[in-house]
Amino acid sequence: MVRVSRRAAFRQLAGMFGAAPFLWAQEDDDPLLEPANIFDFMPLAKAKLDPIAWDYLEGGSEDEASLRDNREAFRRLILRPRALVDVHKIDLKCELFGLRLDYPIIVAPAGGKNCFHADGENVVAKAAANAKALHITNGGIQKTLEAGQGPAWFQVTTGGQMRNTQTMRTFVKELESQGCSGICFTTDIMYVSHRERNIHNKFERRWCEVGIPARDAQGRLPKSRNPERTGVYPERPFPTPTWDTMKELVSLTKLPVILKGLMTAEDTQRAVESGAAGIVVSNHGARQMDHIGGTIEALPECVEAAAGRIPVLVDGGFRRGTDILKALALGASAVLIARPYLYGLTAFSGRGVERVLHLLKTELALNMGLAGTPNLRSIDRTLVRWRA
Ligand SMILES: Cc1cc2nc3c(=O)[nH]c(=O)nc-3n(C[C@H](O)[C@H](O)[C@H](O)COP(=O)(O)O)c2cc1C
Repeated sequence: MVRVSRRAAFRQLAGMFGAAPFLWAQEDDDPLLEPANIFDFMPLAKAKLDPIAWDYLEGGSEDEASLRDNREAFRRLILRPRALVDVHKIDLKCELFGLRLDYPIIVAPAGGKNCFHADGENVVAKAAANAKALHITNGGIQKTLEAGQGPAWFQVTTGGQMRNTQTMRTFVKELESQGCSGICFTTDIMYVSHRERNIHNKFERRWCEVGIPARDAQGRLPKSRNPERTGVYPERPFPTPTWDTMKELVSLTKLPVILKGLMTAEDTQRAVESGAAGIVVSNHGARQMDHIGGTIEALPECVEAAAGRIPVLVDGGFRRGTDILKALALGASAVLIARPYLYGLTAFSGRGVERVLHLLKTELALNMGLAGTPNLRSIDRTLVRWRA
């Protein structure tokens, strides 16, 4: 029997879609090569983290119903592969908001990376650039671009920067002068949701910046000074952003503004009317409002409402190439991932982030080949059906 080394097998697969040379620069006994899929990274990441950090990473809000829906809904969607198509070359390239992307997987914004890695934001920026993936940063755009040298969008939420015309003008001008490629406006975080794992753990928000403190010899953490709690907070002394704010933001900048956190046809329609360059169908990784279903369930009505006028992206629970293929079939232009690359970051630093992106890209390419869809153009709605 011919024994094909793992390295040779990867090289063969990588050759199918022009993967980066780092794939075969690694040795076969490199522990980075052990995880065969995203799920294999989870115990490795968990073992490295304080349980409180793991809960912060993994948890959702309230009943965590949407958290389960994000994953389980993929099981209700079935692929319909086609036979006898020439798939000897597989092409994942796409164009989005003027950027040419090697593959349709984007690194989602994630606050609190310091709970997983002391220099999380910069390490992710560099890894995303190495893996040629678009990165949506929560940190300073200048630092991100310096660390990564790759394209990056800046993520803004409903907080202070969106307070009024002056604050918006200031931050968009800064972004434009610094070489940012787009603005991701996250719409679903008006208040801190009840992430009950955090509440039970007396998780402190400032740990997102400084990391989880060390435990004493008895395994106890220092007493929390300002733990997450039940309540409607932060207090909002000024009005929260509205569709008018969004229109104003668009008028103030040349950069594309992508709205993240929409789940309905109605809001997709309003996004188009307000000048959004695109939307991300998202429930914030099920970390904000609960009981709003899985994002793959919301995707079809949003795609229908967008009617080809703006790209529709999606995130939430994407762990397999087949998950991504299903979203593309339903009309998504790209998907975002967060927890998967955070597992990689925790377990193997930047190399882990690159590896996670590589595994997802490989699974997507492989399954596009198996489905008879050699490029993104050949993927359409007929590639999936909902289970009866
Ligand atoms: C630890 C963590 C922090 C996050 N922080 C933010 C954030 O600051 N802004 C934001 O728009 N989304 C944030 N998200 C949501 C992600 O951008 C993304 O929408 C979601 O997590 C995707 O689902 P997935 O984690 O299952 O891939 C965060 C997610 C995680 C896991």
